[in-house]
Amino acid sequence: MLLNRFEKAMMNNPVRAGIQRHFEARTLTRLGGRAAGRRCLELGCGRGVGTEIILDHFGAASVDAFDLDPHMVALARRRLASRGTRVRVWQGSATDIAADSGSYGAVFDFGIVHHIPDWRRALAEAHRVLEPGGRLYLEEVLAKFILHPVWRRLLEHPLHDRFSGPQLTRALEDAGFVIRGSEELVGWFAFVVADKPR
Ligand SMILES: C[S@@+](CC[C@H](N)C(=O)[O-])C[C@H]1O[C@@H](n2cnc3c(N)ncnc32)[C@H](O)[C@@H]1O
Repeated sequence: MLLNRFEKAMMNNPVRAGIQRHFEARTLTRLGGRAAGRRCLELGCGRGVGTEIILDHFGAASVDAFDLDPHMVALARRRLASRGTRVRVWQGSATDIAADSGSYGAVFDFGIVHHIPDWRRALAEAHRVLEPGGRLYLEEVLAKFILHPVWRRLLEHPLHDRFSGPQLTRALEDAGFVIRGSEELVGWFAFVVADKPR
C-alpha cells in the first residue's frame, strides 16, 4: 500500500533520515553486526536514505533496492546517482521480488512490511532471495502503533492481520528464519535480525 501525503512528509525529511542513521542502523548493527562486502537488497527503499546507510554504515559491496511507489523510485535514483554501479534501483513489490533465489547476502527492511496486506508473503520472498547463511535486518511498525486512534486517523495502513513483536518473530520462524536478536521500542516498533540457515 502506498503512503498517504502525511506519511510521505513524515518519511521524506532530514529528521527521519537522522533517526534512521543514528538510531535504527545502530540498533540493527548491535543485534546483527555489519554486512561488510556483501551483496545486499533493500525492500521499499523510499527516497534512498536506507541504501546509503547499507553502503556506508553496514559496509555493503553493492545494494539493489526497489519500492512500489514510482515517485519514491525517482527520488532514490536521483539521490543515489553518484554511487554508480554499486547501486541499482527499480520499481517493484516485496511480495514478488525480481531477483533469483539465493542472490543476496543480506536483505534490509526499514519499515515497509507493515504496509503490505500479505506481509507473510514478503517474508517468504526475503527468505527465497537470501543465500543460505544470509541475514535479514528488519525495523518494523507493530499493530499497537497502527491501530492507535491518533495514528489511524493520520496514516493509511492495511488494518487487517497486523502483527505484534512475538507474532512477527513467529512468522519469521515459520518462513524458515532463525532469530538472531530482537527488541521492541515502547510496543510500537520492533527491531529483528534473523538468519536463513546454511
Ligand atoms: C514507511 S515507508 C519507509 C520508506 C523507507 N524505507 C524509509 O525508512 O524511509 C514504506 C515504503 O514502503 C513502500 N512500499 C509499500 N508497499 C510496498 C511493497 N509491496 N513493495 C515494496 N515497497 C512497498 C512505500 O512506497 C514506502 O516507500
